[in-house]
Amino acid sequence: MLRNKKWFLIIFSILIFMFILLSAEEEEEEKKPEYVGYKKCKTCHKDIYDSWKETTHALNFQGVLDSTGLDDTTCFSCHTVGYGEPGGFVDTTETPDLVGVQCESCHGPGSLYKKFSIMKDHEKSVANGLYEQTEEVCTKCHTIDQSPDFNYEEAVKDQKGVHIIPEKEE
Ligand code: HEC
Ligand code: HEC
Ligand code: HEC
Ligand code: HEC
Repeated sequence: MLRNKKWFLIIFSILIFMFILLSAEEEEEEKKPEYVGYKKCKTCHKDIYDSWKETTHALNFQGVLDSTGLDDTTCFSCHTVGYGEPGGFVDTTETPDLVGVQCESCHGPGSLYKKFSIMKDHEKSVANGLYEQTEEVCTKCHTIDQSPDFNYEEAVKDQKGVHIIPEKEE
């Protein structure tokens, strides 16, 4: 009798444990960040937007149109935002605002971290999809093939590439 009870308890605990695992996984799935496009960021980061707009990143899609048009989709991974990912670029009719290298190409898909309460907390933002700024953020596009002369230390200070960071008024 006692033995049976013990087995029952063991199996019961395993079932509970599996249930918890499964529901945790479901929750993760719901919380995948999606791309939202620069217009959402602009509402709170107007100065940075103004500066980004002048970079070659913001302007770079015309070059693709002029050289291969829209037929060669292999260009989109580096010349649009989030191509093939949730919320990302589909085509110029459906997602005309997601062309070029935008905020989220360097800072990560923003649907979850763009809330004020999350944005002002660095840890929370990172937990919700904000990238830490490292060289790897750049070199997924600035590969040896595409950008043989790329030098991170210099490029990150180059205003043709990265927006200026406005002085805080306080
Ligand atoms: C509701 C307003 C709001 C929106 C929308 C918003 N931000 Fe922010 N963001 C803030 C605030 C507030 C801070 C913290 C203070 C600061 O650094 O300006 C911040 C900080 C940041 C930082 C520095 C964070 C850190 O911890 O290193 C980055 C990068 C950033 N935002 C990018 C974005 C991007 C990209 C988007 C669009 C996907 C976006 N923000 C949308 C308000 C916003
Ligand atoms: C999503 C892809 C992508 C990411 C991420 C990216 N870049 Fe770029 N970058 C490009 C493309 C494409 C161009 C070319 C734009 C053009 O000339 O039309 C470019 C151009 C530049 C230029 C201008 C080169 C010139 O001489 O005109 C600089 C500087 C630069 N990037 C720096 C950076 C830095 C620094 C990072 C990381 C913080 C970065 N990039 C992240 C795709 C990317
Ligand atoms: C792996 C990422 C990647 C892919 C894929 C890619 N590019 Fe680029 N492209 C870049 C980067 C990075 C630059 C900037 C190079 C630099 O200035 O260092 C660039 C620059 C350019 C430029 C501007 C060049 C100039 O001299 O101003 C054009 C036009 C361009 N790419 C078109 C295309 C086309 C068309 C395709 C598809 C056939 C494509 N790219 C695929 C990353 C990529
Ligand atoms: C080419 C990559 C790239 C693009 C595109 C880009 N950023 Fe950044 N951003 C950076 C880098 C690099 C930093 C500096 C990070 C650091 O020093 O920790 C930065 C810093 C920031 C910060 C923090 C400023 C502070 O006070 O420290 C904010 C906010 C921000 N970016 C918002 C944006 C917004 C909004 C856009 C689009 C309009 C954008 N970024 C586009 C690379 C990029």
